[in-house]
Amino acid sequence: MKKITKSSIAFICMLFFISVLFNQGLAQTSQKSNDAAKPIPADVQKAFEKSCIKCHSDHGNFMAESKVNLSKWADYSAEKQASKAKAMCKEVSEGDMPPKKFRKKNPENVPTPEDIKTICDWAQSLQISK
Ligand code: HEC
Repeated sequence: MKKITKSSIAFICMLFFISVLFNQGLAQTSQKSNDAAKPIPADVQKAFEKSCIKCHSDHGNFMAESKVNLSKWADYSAEKQASKAKAMCKEVSEGDMPPKKFRKKNPENVPTPEDIKTICDWAQSLQISK
């Protein structure tokens, strides 16, 4: 009796691992290419890396990631990119992002007026005219 339970537990574990592996394979092949959405230009990316990426990326700040995740930018639709970019321009222009505490601790990572302009010009270029 004891022997049977042990081997059936092992069997269930094995099934579980196989299904995890299988699912990962599926997830990789089903990653769709998103033609309409545009990659972030180098100068904008530089500003984000300086001031935003620490929080707004995979393994960043959970709350920040849920609002804007720059690691997942390529997966956003063109509409989502446009609205997120607009929000990012607004946050930096108003001095709400990066957060006050971060500015205090990392003065060299505070966006300059040029950085803000770069971000906002880019955000403007993404807006979809209707
Ligand atoms: C120290 C971490 C940190 C840094 C650095 C940071 N953010 Fe954030 N950001 C957050 C957190 C946390 C939230 C979610 C909570 C909130 O809205 O205040 C957030 C939210 C946002 C939002 C959504 C606001 C809303 O109300 O929907 C935008 C847009 C944003 N950040 C843009 C930026 C941009 C652009 C930068 C760089 C210039 C930046 N953030 C840098 C932590 C950060």
